[in-house]
Amino acid sequence: MKDQLESLRASTIDLTEQTFDIKALGDARIRILGRKGELTGILRGLKDLPVEERSRIGQLANHIKIELEQLFDAREAHLRNEIERAQLATESIDITLAGRRMVLGKSHILNRVTRELVEVFSGLGFQLAEGPEVEIDYYNFEALNIPKDHPARDMQDTFYFSENVLLRTHTSPVQIRTMEKRKPPVKVICPGKVYRRDADVTHSPMFMQIEGLWVDKEVSFSDLKGVLTAFVREYFGDKLDLRFRPSFFPFTEPSAEVDIQCVICGGSGCRTCSFTGWLEILGSGMVDPALYKFVNYDPEVYTGFAFGLGIERVAMLKYGIPDIRLFYENDVRFLNQF
Ligand code: FA5
Repeated sequence: MKDQLESLRASTIDLTEQTFDIKALGDARIRILGRKGELTGILRGLKDLPVEERSRIGQLANHIKIELEQLFDAREAHLRNEIERAQLATESIDITLAGRRMVLGKSHILNRVTRELVEVFSGLGFQLAEGPEVEIDYYNFEALNIPKDHPARDMQDTFYFSENVLLRTHTSPVQIRTMEKRKPPVKVICPGKVYRRDADVTHSPMFMQIEGLWVDKEVSFSDLKGVLTAFVREYFGDKLDLRFRPSFFPFTEPSAEVDIQCVICGGSGCRTCSFTGWLEILGSGMVDPALYKFVNYDPEVYTGFAFGLGIERVAMLKYGIPDIRLFYENDVRFLNQF
């Protein structure tokens, strides 16, 4: 058996030296060293040898196997080298060719506008707060003074995971979550995604809002007007007019919506502003004292105001974008303009 092993070793050395093809070399490796190869064939007789002899031959076979493996590896590396050298000799590389330009990604315009808005409100003393997008009925409706049978729910239909778990329809639930956790003074803004069954040039089924809430002693409607006017002037400058329009929300009393003059038509009326000359950007109002009982604030001591701003609408006005759907179509020709 020792002779058989030695002869396999010698013939394999010859064979590798005479093989110039990588595939043929691979086939030979399997034929000789594979699980059912020639070496295994020889070792089949091992079990018939006396114990002492068996371990000596076993060791020899191991050494030869390792040596032959290395031999195959070295020959393969050599052949690959040769192929590469031959290729380099025939191919020429044009080092004057211009490199390929790396395309750099950038923040989505809505993320940029969100950051800018957060910056403006931070400058007015608001702190950042957050809440979940998958919300429970209690925070999204009930604790905002919108019980199960309230008609205000009709305008905010959404995706329900179960009767009590839903995709939030506005950022207002963060008002309740924040007041539950903190005692006044509370002065926060909460940006985030919200969802509704809505779709047209100014309504998207998924959109973004920033909620603002300021509760303290003696916060008044003039503070609300002052903060929102300061925001509009800071972000849009003096060119666009704004107006406060009386409105209704179950969680604020009194309530107002803020419209800004349409930049697309300059106020003369177009498809984007539904031919009114104005685009609504936010809802707001004084926090209804009915909410304070849900969060254990004393309505005799504290007053506050809240607002909910549509981020896409602000971006549309700031950059003259006529259709809200452009934000979510992911067309880089559109996105790269900002
Ligand atoms: C609300 O969502 C109230 N939670 C706002 C609020 C907060 C009022 C705090 C009082 C106090 P409204 O449904 O009007 O209100 O939405 C607020 C803003 O979100 C709108 O002014 C508009 O700018 C934007 N908006 C509403 N629906 C959509 C939509 N489908 N797509 C894009 N923007 C929308």
